[in-house]
Amino acid sequence: MQWFAQAPANIALIKYMGKTNEDENIPENPSFSYTLDRLLSNVMIEEHPGSQDFWAPLSIPGAPKFQLSKQGQERYLAHLAFLKKKFNYRGAFVVHSSNNFPHGSGLASSASSFAALTKCAILALCELKKEDLPSIEIQATLARHGSGSACRSFFSPWALWDQDTVTGVVLPYSNLIHQVILVSHEEKSISSSAAHRLVKTSNLYSHRAHRAQNNLKTLMHALEASDWASAYQVTWKEFHDMHHLFATATPPFSYINEQSQALLTALKSSWDRLGDGPLITMDAGPNIHLLYRPDQADMALRFKHDQLIGEYDVL
Ligand code: PMV
Repeated sequence: MQWFAQAPANIALIKYMGKTNEDENIPENPSFSYTLDRLLSNVMIEEHPGSQDFWAPLSIPGAPKFQLSKQGQERYLAHLAFLKKKFNYRGAFVVHSSNNFPHGSGLASSASSFAALTKCAILALCELKKEDLPSIEIQATLARHGSGSACRSFFSPWALWDQDTVTGVVLPYSNLIHQVILVSHEEKSISSSAAHRLVKTSNLYSHRAHRAQNNLKTLMHALEASDWASAYQVTWKEFHDMHHLFATATPPFSYINEQSQALLTALKSSWDRLGDGPLITMDAGPNIHLLYRPDQADMALRFKHDQLIGEYDVL
């Protein structure tokens, strides 16, 4: 038998960085994200007669072959083993997976890929064990064990995750236009798992949870009041807060390279000039995510044509 599931990526505006419990991925502070419905991971699971699980790329006609490092495959299959244990299932599976965004695009895909694997494995395990499907909240909690940020991909468009609870949030701006500027296609040298550990060595870490909570409060109020400019300001402050943790860790590290810095400067001066622009954020990587309101569609297109095309790939 075969099962199929799909899950989207998400971009955090209030960042999950630092864990209080590494085994269960319990975050030090609440995080808040916008779900990126265009960037999807696909997973197909099939039963397998042996005793060991395997990973294989999911072939999509016309799309380049998807690859996953040995380490990536092991982490993926370890999460499948965790789910099988939860459902007390001993049979084996082959897991086929791929993303609809170009491989090696430098986009972290752990949220969508672990959400899709969790959804698909739950479908398979519930059918095989003749059990009812668990609620979306429970599925999201199980996905969190694979990759923390995956739990937010179960809710759209806005998701709020604190401790062991994740929920959808109803807010204005439910239909934003997402662009990501691919400043680098390279695999990052410091993984987000390593970053979660290293930030604890920063002097700025002790009050980080407090700052994130304040930023969250400010952002929620801004979005509720449809105050876009304040949402931009706090989103900007928040991702810089996370990147300052990286810069002040021992040893210090950074994902912001010359190109990302030049783009950030251009985006900020455009905001200062026009009093309007996109929400801007960066994850643990050099790529820049932009979220525009639907009425800013022309602005999004103009920025892409004038500043990006020919220099950077934009998704
Ligand atoms: O889910 P993880 O362990 O890959 O952590 C993701 C961390 C950030 O992307 C940097 C921030 C976030 O909240 O998504």
